[in-house]
Amino acid sequence: MGPLTFARALPLLCLASAATLPSEHTALHKARAAANETNVYDAIIVGGGPSGLSALSGLARVRRNVLLLDSGEYRNNPTRHMHDVLGYDGVTPAYYRWAAREQLSHYDTVSATNGTVTKIDISDASSDPHSDTLFTVSTGPTADGTGQVATYSARKIVLATGLRDILPPTPGISENWGKGIFWCPWCDGHEHADQPLGLLSDLTDAPGLVREISTLNSDIIAFVNGTDTPENRAATEESFPQWEAFLKLHNVTVENRTLASITRLRDGGADNTDPSLPSVPEHDLFRVDFVEGSDSVERAAFFSSFPDEQKSTVGQELGVRLDGGRLAADSTKGLVTNIPGVYAIGDANADNVTNVPHALFSGKRTAVYLHVQLAREEAAKELASAGNSTAAAAKKRAAAELDIRAVWETMNGEPRDILYAGDFE
Ligand SMILES: Cc1cc2nc3c(=O)[nH]c(=O)nc-3n(C[C@H](O)[C@H](O)[C@H](O)COP(=O)(O)OP(=O)(O)OC[C@H]3O[C@@H](n4cnc5c(N)ncnc54)[C@H](O)[C@@H]3O)c2cc1C
Ligand SMILES: *[C@@H]1O[C@H](CO)[C@@H](O)[C@H](O)[C@H]1NC(C)=O
Ligand SMILES: *[C@@H]1O[C@H](CO)[C@@H](O)[C@H](O)[C@H]1NC(C)=O
Ligand SMILES: *[C@@H]1O[C@H](CO)[C@@H](O)[C@H](O)[C@H]1NC(C)=O
Ligand SMILES: *[C@@H]1O[C@H](CO)[C@@H](O)[C@H](O)[C@H]1NC(C)=O
Ligand SMILES: *[C@@H]1O[C@H](CO)[C@@H](O)[C@H](O)[C@H]1NC(C)=O
Ligand SMILES: *[C@@H]1O[C@H](CO)[C@@H](O)[C@H](O)[C@H]1NC(C)=O
Ligand SMILES: *[C@@H]1O[C@H](CO)[C@@H](O)[C@H](O)[C@H]1NC(C)=O
Repeated sequence: MGPLTFARALPLLCLASAATLPSEHTALHKARAAANETNVYDAIIVGGGPSGLSALSGLARVRRNVLLLDSGEYRNNPTRHMHDVLGYDGVTPAYYRWAAREQLSHYDTVSATNGTVTKIDISDASSDPHSDTLFTVSTGPTADGTGQVATYSARKIVLATGLRDILPPTPGISENWGKGIFWCPWCDGHEHADQPLGLLSDLTDAPGLVREISTLNSDIIAFVNGTDTPENRAATEESFPQWEAFLKLHNVTVENRTLASITRLRDGGADNTDPSLPSVPEHDLFRVDFVEGSDSVERAAFFSSFPDEQKSTVGQELGVRLDGGRLAADSTKGLVTNIPGVYAIGDANADNVTNVPHALFSGKRTAVYLHVQLAREEAAKELASAGNSTAAAAKKRAAAELDIRAVWETMNGEPRDILYAGDFE
């Protein structure tokens, strides 16, 4: 297929809503199951967002038998378009996942299925001829009733379970989340440049948000919702010295009244724009009403700072340590957690980076390390069972050959190459 054909095909697919996309979930489902309940998978990936799909790709490329289990509640599902994922800038999140699954369906050794992982147990690995670790994974149905109660075995686990945003109950916020009320300027700022903007955050977070969006516009109102108190002013001065002068310089008004509701007046998503363009202005409009006083304020879009939490507790229940609410993962060892054989990628891990490029990078990073780790364990066991008197030396050499650093150096380009990704730390 030539580039022209692709350019024509893409807009059509972008137009499709999540519901009408050609079987996002069936493409991979049809792939030949390389292992099943009576077999032991090389790895099970929990979560089918961009991080889990990226890990699946890296493992498919080296023909590992991998199952991905997904409950289908993606963090960016509410948003209209996914941005800042180069090559896919501006497509719908559902189109992106569909494209990833379609491509993965061409690889025979990996498959994906619907299901909610309810429990992961560490099994006795001593009987396993190939791996140092062995896990049993139990699943139940998803929220929408698909997926089955089942049990699977795997040598390694990849947690790609994501985060859940905790939205305040103020009417209008969850209804418009991702469609005019945002959290990430990189994801949605460009579409609302030069438009009257609002901030939804405590006073303490407002100056930091202004720092992130000051290149978008100078008409900004910070709706701090009653948090402009002497204590918060002192805390803000501590974290952001001279914050008040900074807000003044950037024409930011602090509105302290209690938010009663946010009401949509115009839907920027209803504009009939060319879906093949990476970024198109979105003209949303909202009215903000307060508990104190009947005078309302209009804004085109909001950037917020709301808390989040782990979408799933299966990692913690398995004993994975948390760091600031995120799954702690060792970035020098392929993002392995404190539980040997268990890796944590994407939003859920304690890299504290929550975007799709990080999800893709971290999935890839784990895929490389996990594959080499399995091969290292396999080599050791093969050589031990071969009983060769020089096995010890061979084992050492095989381990050295398969060393993660060596793989990095082989796959990495030379400095100044387009593929060069820097030194292995
Ligand atoms: C409104 C909004 C807009 C955004 N826009 C952008 C953007 O434009 N560009 C960008 O780069 N980033 C954007 N992001 C951030 C982006 O959504 C995340 O960084 C990305 O989704 C992280 O991918 P992930 O694979 O880690 O998690 P997710 O995409 O959240 O996927 C996690 C998956 O794991 C599944 N899961 C969880 N627990 C279990 C379990 N026990 N069993 C089975 N499955 C399970 C979930 O159902 C889900 O399918 C946006 C976020 C929000 C909230
Ligand atoms: C599961 O795997 C076993 C062993 O490879 C095979 O005999 C069986 O037919 C498979 N079952 C299904 C449903 O694929
Ligand atoms: C998997 O779940 C999705 C919704 O997330 C649904 O559209 C699809 O039909 C399901 N697939 C199967 C095989 O049940
Ligand atoms: C605003 O403050 C009220 C009262 O404290 C609270 O109920 C509400 O959740 C807050 N809304 C936001 C958006 O922070
Ligand atoms: C400053 O902000 C106010 C609203 O608070 C807005 O009316 C005005 O246009 C802004 N000025 C500039 C230069 O952006
Ligand atoms: C902001 O609102 C809170 C809660 O209503 C109040 O305690 C505080 O005094 C207000 N701050 C200012 C500067 O008016
Ligand atoms: C992530 O944040 C937590 C707490 O917020 C912190 O302890 C941890 O060091 C951070 N990790 C990185 C890699 O910055
Ligand atoms: C043992 O290993 C060495 C080095 O790889 C090899 O040369 C030798 O042939 C092997 N011996 C047997 C019995 O396999």
